[in-house]
Amino acid sequence: MNRIAPKISQEELNTQLDYSEKIKALYDNMLDHKPRAYIDTYGCQQNFADSEFIMGMLTDMGIEITTDENEADIAIFNTCAIREHAEMRVLGNIGKLKQTKKEKSHLVIAVCGCMAQQEHMKEKILKSYPYVNLLFGTHALYKFPELLYKQLKSHKRVFDTSGDEIGMIFEGVHIKRDRDIRANLPIMYGCNNFCTYCIVPYVRGRERSRDKEDIIRSFKEILDAGYKEITLLGQNVNSYGSDKGYSYDFADLLDEIATIGEQSGKEHIIRFMTSHPKDATEKLFQVMAKHDNIAKQLHLPFQSGSDRILEAMNRRYTKEHYLGLIEMAKKYMPDISFSSDIIVGFPGEVKEDFLETMDVLENVKFDQLFTFIYSRRVGTKAALMPDVITAAEKQEMFEYLLKRQQEIGLERNMAEIGKTFRVLVDGESMDEKYDLSTKMEGGRLVKINGSKDLIGKFINVKVTKASPHALFGEIVE
Ligand code: SAH
Ligand code: SF4
Ligand code: F3S
Repeated sequence: MNRIAPKISQEELNTQLDYSEKIKALYDNMLDHKPRAYIDTYGCQQNFADSEFIMGMLTDMGIEITTDENEADIAIFNTCAIREHAEMRVLGNIGKLKQTKKEKSHLVIAVCGCMAQQEHMKEKILKSYPYVNLLFGTHALYKFPELLYKQLKSHKRVFDTSGDEIGMIFEGVHIKRDRDIRANLPIMYGCNNFCTYCIVPYVRGRERSRDKEDIIRSFKEILDAGYKEITLLGQNVNSYGSDKGYSYDFADLLDEIATIGEQSGKEHIIRFMTSHPKDATEKLFQVMAKHDNIAKQLHLPFQSGSDRILEAMNRRYTKEHYLGLIEMAKKYMPDISFSSDIIVGFPGEVKEDFLETMDVLENVKFDQLFTFIYSRRVGTKAALMPDVITAAEKQEMFEYLLKRQQEIGLERNMAEIGKTFRVLVDGESMDEKYDLSTKMEGGRLVKINGSKDLIGKFINVKVTKASPHALFGEIVE
């Protein structure tokens, strides 16, 4: 396959803006208040970035965003299909609107995102959720104004899961960022890796990189708008540019962006995710080490420590290669923090395989782990592979892993007591005993007391206490 994904054309963008104007006029006649939309987003950062496109398009339509679903005229569910649990949660929440829809007949219920892109889910929603008015997949996202207009005009159900597997590059679609401190910056869309357990390549299409000029323009806009933490996003950022045949790779892009950031004189921190171990390079670590404005943090999912299972997962690296990468990164950045994703209970996994996973855990001592029990996804290769252990055995391994990681987390956090770190104050704390929540360069959470005026600022804090999942500290003047 060697087709390069197209950008959305200017003509198409204009067409969608025309539909936005028509929607404005329709709602003017229909409602005695400004229309309001509620948006519920599931899944990964990419989906949250897509919701920012949706909010941008809604703003073009003159529609306000509300966080109260009861006052919504449009309820949008931007869904995730990564595991069965994610799908069940969203279906449960859509189900809760059945009664609301009876009482508020003009309410538009829209379902989009990865789950909606799957044919069998589309059928299920068509049949079992008759009150869903609008459904569109990830490829049709930019057509949201047109689809919403058609629904409002016809009062019929509108379903669009069109688009080929190559996909589109979303350039020029308006963005309304959800937060004022942290900003997402997608650098590529889709995935080519076809890990045998994973639905993403099927629901998001092939890997396609944004032009470097577009990314740099977005980065400057984000910096100018005053954002403090900027995360470059892609399912596998390390293969940036390969679809275009660029010799300029992710490390080059990161280097250029970090240089622009440094020259801006604005205080900020740059992060990126996700890195695939098969494509992480020494050059990347050198670039990370070179720039103070790149967080010394690496999210490097290893999934399993067993070479046999890694092969069945089509991950294309070994445990030895993975541990070698960790050592190489540490050589350039002795204080670097690592986080990872792990799947427990992949088909065919037995206790010996699991012990290899635990060995990686003991070896690396991650700051943070995202752990999942394998979930069968229709259409993927692993869905056809037989299990050899029971669900109860999987659960037992999973709990053992969680418990051990808790201990490791506590050990690592306790070791920071008495040390001072530069942190970004990113909001009010959820914990009533503390005023503010802050984030260390490595990504760990530090709760402190202090004035709300500090939100959005980089400050120094001294760690005074630790728990398995958080640190507690005080401001150092
Ligand atoms: N592109 C990223 C991950 C995206 S999905 C990467 O390759 O690292 C996030 C995580 O969900 C994956 O790393 C994996 O650990 C988990 N995951 C994906 N499919 C899964 C499945 N079918 N069952 C359980 N966990 C899964
Ligand atoms: Fe899924 Fe693998 Fe692609 Fe990550 S790299 S999105 S796990 S197929
Ligand atoms: Fe889920 Fe789609 Fe992300 S399946 S994890 S929202 S790419």
